[in-house]
Amino acid sequence: MSSLLSINGLEKVFLEDSNPISAVKDISFDLRESEILVIFGRSGSGKTTLLHLIAGLESISQGSILFQSNSINEMSPDELTLLRRDNIGFVYQFHHLVNEFTAIENVSLPLILNGSKRYKANNKAKILLNNFGLGHRENHKPSELSGGERQRVAICRALINEPSLVLLDEPTGDLDRETAEQVIKELKDYLNNSKASLIIATHDKNFEKIATSIKTMDSGIFI
Ligand SMILES: Nc1ncnc2c1ncn2[C@@H]1O[C@H](COP(=O)(O)OP(=O)(O)O)[C@@H](O)[C@H]1O
Ligand SMILES: [Mg+2]
Repeated sequence: MSSLLSINGLEKVFLEDSNPISAVKDISFDLRESEILVIFGRSGSGKTTLLHLIAGLESISQGSILFQSNSINEMSPDELTLLRRDNIGFVYQFHHLVNEFTAIENVSLPLILNGSKRYKANNKAKILLNNFGLGHRENHKPSELSGGERQRVAICRALINEPSLVLLDEPTGDLDRETAEQVIKELKDYLNNSKASLIIATHDKNFEKIATSIKTMDSGIFI
């Protein structure tokens, strides 16, 4: 089976400052369908930068990223926007939900942007929110939800377009242990019925339970 994602000799140097910072130095790996890669690493080791490069949110300094055999380095801004909307879901540590929107509106948004009718998007969002134990909170805005609930909404939003790759950046970093364990369990249940691949950057050892492979990042490389 060919790789979903193939990364070769990836490097990122930030040049803004007077002294350049090599955030990602020489990363190579392949990811296949249904794989769950968990990346551990202390703060500042390059995890977020790596996820941003894969999502096309940062430009690459050296090396290549092939997503479904297409080179992310060579995509136009419009192509990258479509890639993120349709194929790559992103979950941030601090959810980045639209504060004025309810849970169901937040989750529906990517599907509506994709041309879906509102009622269809809402129906699908409802099912997802139910899967993550949030059926009863669908009409609440982020400010009326707990941290764990907000993070579940952000996960549902990242999943609604059924992306083949989901990138999660410290998704439980802001949650207490019990809530984090619950969210991980719900994610695992969801993945049993999906072919999505995940890359999770985290400090949370609980993710070891769902990982198909584990790497540790330090100073921009896998050690
Ligand atoms: N936009 C940026 N400009 C300059 N340096 C950056 C930028 N983003 C990250 N860095 C630096 O790159 C290194 C890796 O950061 P990051 O990828 O955020 O690590 P992690 O997510 O593991 O904490 C750090 O030294 C950080 O200061
Ligand atoms: Mg980070």
